[in-house]
Parts: sequence; structure tokens; C-alpha cells
Amino acid sequence: MTRTNHYLWWQRGTIYQVYPRSYQDSNDDGVGDLPGIVSRLDYLRWLGIDGVWISPIYPSPMKDFGYDVADYEAIHPLFGTLQDFDRLIAEAHARDIKVILDFVPNHSSDQHRWFVESRSSRTNPKRDWYIWRDPAPGGGPPNNWLSCFGGSAWEFDTRTGQYYYHAFLKEQPDLNWRNPNVVEAMLGVLRFWLDRGVDGFRVDVLWHLIKDDRFIDNPPNEAWREGMDPYQQLVPVHTTDRPEVHDIVHRMRRLFDEFDDRVLIGEIYLPVERLVQYYGGADLAGAHLPFNFQLINASWDARHLAKMIFEYENAIPQGGWPNWVLGNHDQHRIVTRVGPAQARVAAMLLLTLRGTPTMYYGDEIGMHDVPIPRERIQDPFEKNVPGRGLGRDPERTPMQWCAREKAGFTGGEPWLPIADDYREVNVEMERDDPCSMLALYQRLLSLRRGEPALEVGRFEPLDTDGDMLAYIRRGREAESTFLIALNLGARPQGMRVDEPGAIALSTHLDRAGERVDQTLELRADEGVIVRIGR
Ligand code: NOJ
Repeated sequence: MTRTNHYLWWQRGTIYQVYPRSYQDSNDDGVGDLPGIVSRLDYLRWLGIDGVWISPIYPSPMKDFGYDVADYEAIHPLFGTLQDFDRLIAEAHARDIKVILDFVPNHSSDQHRWFVESRSSRTNPKRDWYIWRDPAPGGGPPNNWLSCFGGSAWEFDTRTGQYYYHAFLKEQPDLNWRNPNVVEAMLGVLRFWLDRGVDGFRVDVLWHLIKDDRFIDNPPNEAWREGMDPYQQLVPVHTTDRPEVHDIVHRMRRLFDEFDDRVLIGEIYLPVERLVQYYGGADLAGAHLPFNFQLINASWDARHLAKMIFEYENAIPQGGWPNWVLGNHDQHRIVTRVGPAQARVAAMLLLTLRGTPTMYYGDEIGMHDVPIPRERIQDPFEKNVPGRGLGRDPERTPMQWCAREKAGFTGGEPWLPIADDYREVNVEMERDDPCSMLALYQRLLSLRRGEPALEVGRFEPLDTDGDMLAYIRRGREAESTFLIALNLGARPQGMRVDEPGAIALSTHLDRAGERVDQTLELRADEGVIVRIGR
């Protein structure tokens, strides 16, 4: 009998991100919606994920495709109604799937009534809900702070003669989290959805919430070169990761703790030693899962990954739970980053490391970045900073369900183009192919489920060389132990094994049951999971 029942669903389970505009359209307007997601819950159940995180579904002018929220407590008609949302929660829960929403606290839309009030006059009670500053003494923006989407972060408001700060688009003014009324209002938003049965939140740009209140210029980044992302010209030390942000995270966490089993996930792009601060110190009073994006940023090299995994494991505070993310709606897809062969190895890595995995929709069938013709570009980042590969449309294209017209995503004109190869790369075909990427993901998820060693067991790195990355996942006594060996190279490679076992799964899906004794030989681009023991 296993004695690991005290682990929570979000520790054992796998999270799957849905970008709602692109998942499933139910009314042929070319944009995915909530009834569409409901119609795909049986698929998600079959696939074997535990929680679905849905990018923003709130009313929004869609300047940043939902990350510009105009009303935090309603549903955009494009996506459906609150009734549709309640149905999604009920239907997901009936299938044992949790629902995680996206919370966008750093900024609202400029169409949000709070900002409309705030910009109406300098004396409006909501003026201080956003970050307003006088022009610099000689005129112009108050300081050198940059927008993540290009250009100055300051926008001049002619009517009131001041600038407001926006870390992203000018249509996304930053809320002033130093104002206690903002804090109360935004915690109220979280409560609204938690009361409605939401199982957790992914919090957008959590490390941005507080900016320096002396408004000091950010220093130049000496490593910046022409052609790089212009935002990186400065080191954002005065605009992000300020010490006071942790008080806000603690407030959020205390609210979550009033409810059972809810998960607080933070979107945080920081080096590991800064990232792990968001667990909230020794008493873990912060986020449950500060998103760990290292697999996204890492160069795909066995030695580098081994070092990075080891450092992350060692940096997490005692009792903090690790997590791993392979892709999301802001990053090039894994197949495009490492190629289709290594994407299978990456799937095995993601689902066998210690900690909660987050998958990105479509990665499970091997979707790649889709080139977007100039006239179909949607992403404001690409429009503002064109031609540098920063645009995010390529990884946001419609989910490919079947070989029929429009890949079964919509009966209308999809908002972004569908990949050319959708007739081969789609759920329906891959479900029937025992060696497909989808088959691999489904088998990995099904092996994980119910194996305490893989879900929550210890992580023990193994000494390997060359392109081989290997580790042990060890459960308690009487539970299975697994050796995971991944060949990140395009040449066969072998390793010595201390204990015999049998292959439980190969990324090629053709070696299950094969005995392993003393040596383990891997083909090019192959990963295997070996169940140790006779
Ligand atoms: C991070 C989100 O993931 C991204 O899509 C968005 O554009 C920015 N935050 C601004 O909200």
C-alpha cells in the first residue's frame, strides 16, 4: 500500500494550457470558445491530464488577446457566458479535471472603467489606482523605463498633462499595487472566481507588480546588441522583482489558503536564485508554483540540462514543490526549438522530472510554429517590433483535431492560419497510430499516473557523459524505482546500469518489456524509462 496520499492534486498531476482562442470553436466565428473547450474534455480525460489552465476569457478589447482585461468578473461574449463557464467547471470536475484561470493583475485594459475614471481628471478618486507622473523637468517621459512590447513605457495623456506607466501596450496601463484599494479590489476578483469553483490561478507577470517608488532610471544592459529585443537594452531592476512584491504574493496566498486545495501559480521569468524567492521563504508563504521556464530557455544539450536541473533542485526551499514548463503561448513551440525527434525526448523529460509538468496545447500532437503571412499577423508585439522573431502568432495557431477542412477547429475562417501539415498532424490520425507523438504523451501520462516514484518520488541524478542525460526516480520501499535515460544526440549512445530492469517505455514506443542488464543502449534521439528490479 502506498503512503503518499498527502500529496495534493497539483503536486501529483499534470497541467495542460489551453489558449482558448485557438482550441475549439463551437459557433464558427473562427475563434475558440468555452463550449468548444467543454466538447473536448473527454479528449483531455483520455489524454490523462489533471488540470487545465485557460488563458484569459474576460471581456477585453483584445489588443493583447485577452491580457488586456476590461472587466475582471465577466466572460467575453466571444468565449461564451458565465453560464457556459459554470458548465465548464461542472463538466471538468465531473471528469476529475481541475480548472485554472489566468489572473492579470499587473495591468488592466485602458477600457476598464477604473482606468476610464482614473484618466478623467487628476482629482478623480481612482487617479492613484494607476501610475501617473509629471513629465521630466525638461519635458518628455518621467524616466527611461521601457515597455516590454517596444518603445517607452510612458504614455502622455493630453487632457490631464501627465504620463501613465504601461509595462506592456499603451492600452494596458499598470495598476498601482501600492494603493491598498487596488489590492482589496483585486483580491476581491480572486475571491469571486474561487467562490465559483475555480481550482487555481496562473498569475500573469507576477514579478512586475511593484515598481520602484523613486522612479529611478533603469541601468543599461552592457550585453545588449543591435537586433536583440529592444526591451533588453536596460536591466529592469527598478521596474521588476522589487522586494515589496512578496507582500502582495503573501496576501494572495493567504486568500487561497481560505479555500481547499487551490493552486497559486506565478508567471515569473527570473534567474533561478531570484525565482525561488517567490515560494515565500522558509515558511513557503508565497506561490505554490513559481513557473520554472528553464526548459524553455535552455540550450538543448545534455550537460547543460543536467547542470540546470541539479541547480534548480538545490535552489528550491525545503518543502517547496518543483515544476517544469516546456512551452506556452509566448514561446516558440518545442518541435520548432529542438526538432521533431528531440521533441519526443523532451516530452519524456518533462513528464519524468520531479515536479508538476505544464504542457502547452498542441505539443502533444507535435504541432510546430506556423509561419504567418504578413497580412495575417495579429500579435501586437510583432507589429511593434517586426522581423526579429519575437511575434507569438506562430505558436498560437488553431488546434489540429482531424484531417477535415480547417482541421476540425472551426466551420468559419480561423483567426490565425492552420498549419499546412494538419492532414497528417492531428488528434484523430494520431490516436490511431500506436507510434505517434500523441500516443507517446498518452502513454507517458498513463505510466506516470499511479506510480508514486514518477509522480512524487525522489530525484537522483546519474553521472553520464556525452549526449546522455540520466536520473533515477525513487519511490518509497515496495514502490517501483525508475531509471530515465535520454539520448539528446543524433548518434546511438550507451550507458552502464547498476541494477537490472525492464524497459517500461521508449520514446520510439517499440521496446516495452525488453530486459536491461549492465548496459543500456539507446538509439539516436531516444529516451527510455526502465523499471528497475527483476
Ligand atoms: C504575459 C503573457 O503571457 C503574455 O501573453 C502577455 O502579452 C503579457 N504577459 C502581458 O499581459
